[in-house]
Amino acid sequence: MLHKMTTVIPVNIHQPDQVVITKAAHILRSGGLVAFPTETVYGLGADGLNETAVLAIFAAKQRPAHDPIILHIANKRWLPRVAQHIPETAHQLMAHFWPGPLTFILPKADAVPMAVTAHGPTVAVRCPNHPLALAFIQAADTPVAAPSANLFSHTSPTTAQHVWADLNGRIDLILDGGATKIGVESTVLDLTTGVPTVRRPGGVTVEALTAVLGRGHLRIQNNIVEDNPEAPLQSPGMLARHYAPNTPLWLYSGSDENVRAAMRAAIAQQPDPALVALLISNEDYPFFADHPGPIGQVGSLENLSGVANQLFKTIRQLDRSPTLLILARNFSPNGIGRALQDRLYRAAAQRFDCT
Ligand code: TXA
Ligand code: MG
Repeated sequence: MLHKMTTVIPVNIHQPDQVVITKAAHILRSGGLVAFPTETVYGLGADGLNETAVLAIFAAKQRPAHDPIILHIANKRWLPRVAQHIPETAHQLMAHFWPGPLTFILPKADAVPMAVTAHGPTVAVRCPNHPLALAFIQAADTPVAAPSANLFSHTSPTTAQHVWADLNGRIDLILDGGATKIGVESTVLDLTTGVPTVRRPGGVTVEALTAVLGRGHLRIQNNIVEDNPEAPLQSPGMLARHYAPNTPLWLYSGSDENVRAAMRAAIAQQPDPALVALLISNEDYPFFADHPGPIGQVGSLENLSGVANQLFKTIRQLDRSPTLLILARNFSPNGIGRALQDRLYRAAAQRFDCT
């Protein structure tokens, strides 16, 4: 693809500079690619109603065309611009969770190009809870198609530096609004199924959705779809291998005691333990204090939101360090932990059940 000059502009997210917003909106409306922060991760934006611009996202990310993209809107009044047959449940959920990290799957409006939906009849849409993202989408006055701003299947970006590392030379502009707050992507909720179905766990927890919808009124798609292009994909982004660092990551699930023992045993088996990196909790640290290789502490087991905030950043840090292998602990599936499990599962080259 053509080499682009990628500009990075720092922006105060609470008082975005109108000149910068106007420039970014102009680039987007001219068919360009603009990366911007949301409350979850950085998105790679294009004019969601311009098919050529949307196709440029796929090229820049090296994303396969069968993986559909989320449209970002400035407020719920825009929903009819991109979706139709909007059920009462959507209104109920919007009242609770928008703007915020909840993406709906709905029947697409005719105006939405086929590239956005990967030629499917449904569209994904969300309204991000981020002042800079909202100012930018408002100024562009068009739904903004934006997947996470990383190379396909790589770890999602939570800072402008992460975006730069993956996409420098491939996109026009990066709006640098600092680190994102939540650190994992939005929850993808399919509202075209009889009972709403969680296709991807994320920033809005299953517990919070259940509190609004009532018990028995939410389904969770738990199957990890293997990366088989022949198989029909329910939510095509949900491939088994995703979010992956370049260094192989081994994932350990089970009781704290068993996980620590299994990780220590795995370290001992490696020819050079200094080339083994660890992704662990604060509580694990005393058990690995003598480890000679890189250690990434993602926070406390008692604060999984804090872990979510550090997860992708830590994976990227460990991946950049001189290491041949990353050993990572898994987390409990409560609250945001369900999203952590999902991302770690997909990032892993090997998984060990230590229960
Ligand atoms: O938090 C987020 O959702 C971030 C920020 C930038 O908004 N975006 C994001 O986009 O994570 P992406 O493309 O990395 O993930 C979108 C997910 C994928 O799993 C994709 O398959 C699914 O949403 N998806 C998109 N459109 C869909 C559709 N029509 N039907 C089913 N799944 C869809
Ligand atoms: Mg992504």
